[in-house]
Amino acid sequence: MSVVDEVKARLDIVDVVSGYVHLQKAGRNFKALCPFHHEKTPSFVVFPETQTWRCFGACGEGGDVFGFVMKAEGWDFGEALRNLAKRAGVELTPLTPAQQQQVTEHERLQGLIEEAARFFHQQLLEAPAAETVRAYVAGRGLRAETVTAFQLGYAPDDWHQAMQHLQMLGYTQDEIVEAGIAIRNEQGNVYDRFRHRLMIPIRDARGRTVGFGARALEKDAVPKYLNSPQSPLFDKGRLLYGLDRARRAIRETETAVIVEGYMDVLQAHQAGFANVVAQMGTALTEDQLRQLSRYARRLILALDPDVAGTTATMRGLNVARETLQTDGAVTFDPRGVMRYTGTLELDIRVITLPEGHDPDDLIRENPQAWKELLERAIPVAEYVIQRGTAHLTPQSSYQEREQAARALLPLLTLTESDIERSGNIQALARRVRIDERTLLQWTQRRRAERVRAVPTVREQRRLAERPAPAVRAGRSPGHSALREGFCLRLLLEQPERLYAANRLLRELQNGEAWLSEVLAPLKPEDFTRPDYQAIFRVLLQALYQHEMEPVDYFYAHLSPELRQVVEELRVAPEEELEQALPRPLRAELRSIRREQARLNAQPEADIRVWLREVLALRLRFLEREWNEFYFLQQDAQLLSGDLTGAGYHEALRANIRARLILTKALSRVKTQSPSW
Ligand code: UTP
Ligand code: MN
Repeated sequence: MSVVDEVKARLDIVDVVSGYVHLQKAGRNFKALCPFHHEKTPSFVVFPETQTWRCFGACGEGGDVFGFVMKAEGWDFGEALRNLAKRAGVELTPLTPAQQQQVTEHERLQGLIEEAARFFHQQLLEAPAAETVRAYVAGRGLRAETVTAFQLGYAPDDWHQAMQHLQMLGYTQDEIVEAGIAIRNEQGNVYDRFRHRLMIPIRDARGRTVGFGARALEKDAVPKYLNSPQSPLFDKGRLLYGLDRARRAIRETETAVIVEGYMDVLQAHQAGFANVVAQMGTALTEDQLRQLSRYARRLILALDPDVAGTTATMRGLNVARETLQTDGAVTFDPRGVMRYTGTLELDIRVITLPEGHDPDDLIRENPQAWKELLERAIPVAEYVIQRGTAHLTPQSSYQEREQAARALLPLLTLTESDIERSGNIQALARRVRIDERTLLQWTQRRRAERVRAVPTVREQRRLAERPAPAVRAGRSPGHSALREGFCLRLLLEQPERLYAANRLLRELQNGEAWLSEVLAPLKPEDFTRPDYQAIFRVLLQALYQHEMEPVDYFYAHLSPELRQVVEELRVAPEEELEQALPRPLRAELRSIRREQARLNAQPEADIRVWLREVLALRLRFLEREWNEFYFLQQDAQLLSGDLTGAGYHEALRANIRARLILTKALSRVKTQSPSW
């Protein structure tokens, strides 16, 4: 039994969740107000039989005890494992010496940066040479409590002072260089990176200082901001400045405001707008949006008038669109975030600042105006339409209106959500006075959507009568966990296999939009084991970033706990994993291997094994989901509540339909060579 399984076996999810929310017994399940979003009627359910939870309301999320505490506490997998293991009285296998060393090194560098922040802070507060800097800070309207809360500092105008201080504390030159506080030049000389700058410590979401943004104090010094170098510790694509102090407010207001500058964050927080964070001087990334979407339903982008100005021209829209599709980064403008409005179920809004202002000076001048601006934020699609049609007048010709519409359509249909898409097209239709159907034709995306949607009565009955299994799913490592392991391992061998899997799932949707959820691309929840989920998440990030080789990125971002799991997966004897496969497939795999050895080439059938595993994986996920539905159904009390809504029935139907599709596809893999 793996540690994870052991922890899960010893803990009862009901006990753990009770520590966070007030659970009420409802039949054999428990329900509560969802702790992850605001609601008045309870739609959060805990299932003791399967030891899982799910929110049937706005979040629609679910998982096991690990997923729950990770979400509730903002822990990563390692932290969740340590905490739950402790609670369950399970001893964790110690890390290997190499892993231990990695952890120690990481912690040591982070400690070093922490010390550097303390040093700079002290300098700002006390050094006689910092007198003008204190005046600068005061002149920018920053009060002492803000300086303390954000631990602002001053890097002396000197080549070695910071380094000497850190060496005195026992750090080596190498470490100081590696932490990005000092630089070693080609001659081998080592000197302080930050000199005569206002130091802004940058913390991760949990408040650990991992780097600095350093503002020049001389008027025309270049660069204006010097940031710590990119490293696994200081990863600009993942950090959001101020998130550690904003997290609570974001959760409470369900809204995150994203600004561009460090100063904007400082000023906003000082004025009591605590849900404000800043990007890190680079484009917003999907990872950052995802982090925020954990706490927020609504994002408000505070746009610089410059950015707004360039988008106003809306030139090169198609270029932007192409880069969007190939590039995981989201530019800090409405175009970049459009496609996330549907996938992340985020309400993304935009405000435009008055000419010549950034949030910093606006808030200083007139906090009320800032507040009103936020209240008047408009949905990003609306913003795009406004900007893209601003040049039209009531006298504009049909050609002019058509041109504007054609330029905007690709953008407005980027979102993966059908509702959003049709809403956007409607709004555009009104604005350009061209009817929706014509616009739809121009998008050329719509194949006629067949409405054969509903499964037949017989199909429904057959599936609905299938009883929920008596075993406590997810409690033993059994068969399906082994197969999950096998699946993950195939993916680790060749991460690009993910694309083939997602293509297949998409094909199986067959253009039926209502199946897009149940046949969505492979997702962490397809795996039951929380460690596999976490590994899969890192793998996803690795594939969607463009700064490093996916494999390098993957290993650089694996916590030691997960690394251990990956290593176990990779060294697990082939046979053991193969045992988990159904017999015909096992035989097939063997013959493939033999053939492979003979031809010494990549046999095509290999992909079939993988795709079959994917189909089976999703099928098991849907079966688990079905079980939850089943338990709910048993539960008259719950069903009489808000779960009887149309959404619930829709979900049931989609679940049934998708399982039929997958079952059929699976049998096709067995009997003939598939068309994909
Ligand atoms: P701004 O130039 O708008 O700076 O850059 P600011 O935040 O308004 O700062 P003040 O008010 O002039 O002091 C916005 C953000 O872009 C990044 C920083 O994160 C900055 O906060 N940036 C800017 C850099 O990383 N490097 C630069 O050279 C400039
Ligand atoms: Mn500014």
